[in-house]
Amino acid sequence: MNRMQKIVSRAKQELEVNEKSRSGEVRSREKLESNLTKYEYTKTRVIPITGDTLKRNRIISMDKTDLRAVRFQMLRSKVLQQMRKKEWNTLGITAPTSGAGKSLISVNLACSIAMEGNQSVLLVDMDLRKPSVNKYFELAPEYGMHDIIEGNASIAKTLINPGIDRLTILPGVKGVLNSSEQISTPFVKELITSLKERYSDRIVIFDLPPALAGDDVMVFIPYIDCSLLVIESGSNKRHEIEDSLNLLKEKPVLGTVLNRADTAKDTFY
Ligand SMILES: Nc1ncnc2c1ncn2[C@@H]1O[C@H](COP(=O)(O)OP(=O)(O)OP(=O)(O)O)[C@@H](O)[C@H]1O
Ligand SMILES: [Mg+2]
Repeated sequence: MNRMQKIVSRAKQELEVNEKSRSGEVRSREKLESNLTKYEYTKTRVIPITGDTLKRNRIISMDKTDLRAVRFQMLRSKVLQQMRKKEWNTLGITAPTSGAGKSLISVNLACSIAMEGNQSVLLVDMDLRKPSVNKYFELAPEYGMHDIIEGNASIAKTLINPGIDRLTILPGVKGVLNSSEQISTPFVKELITSLKERYSDRIVIFDLPPALAGDDVMVFIPYIDCSLLVIESGSNKRHEIEDSLNLLKEKPVLGTVLNRADTAKDTFY
């Protein structure tokens, strides 16, 4: 069975389970929406993580005693302000190159937003080549984003709540080589649209691969509302930043986050 056949077969199976009462042909979009309707309250697996895990992995944005958390609160306010004004709810986080801190910033920002009190967040590991969100939470998920794309798991089976109110994680498990081909399938476009539209009051953060390391980000950017560019202080060159901004410009770039600076700053325009 090839990949397309697998996707179609999975869509059929899920329809049978989720929409027993409905008859006739239902498009894959409807299948996804039905799937999403149910997951949040009935199906999301809860794997509580400890404060030690958070600390060990530099997830500091929820720690009221850590002064660095204030920087994430500021970033959160600026991001939410802009997104709410425009009624956007999907944000991609990337950087010019590998290791700049994209995942760490994505994880901390997601936690900080969940801490806000009235904002739910879905953190999606969209780095299909090198997923790492699971490592930050020390999760060993059975299924990841690539399983959804390859037709091996439903969204409901994949989602995890790490015991933090209002935060849901759609992790990755293992890297794939054909990431940009996967991202460019109509199924992924439908999936992202469904994640966006089903809960328009939820912020969806996508931890993306490096902007300049392949065409994954270029292919993905049209699916989302806006992005943030993480810059590694002292490492990313001016031309890398310009090339990345150029690549992202199809959708608004909310700002840049300077990571690993002696005095951390974030700049927005
Ligand atoms: N400001 C920081 N201070 C200390 N350690 C950091 C900082 N930012 C990132 N790190 C650490 O550097 C490593 C790489 O960070 P991270 O995984 O966020 O980078 P990335 O840009 O997502 O990398 P990749 O391209 O591999 O996905 C991690 O171990 C992370 O904890
Ligand atoms: Mg990463």
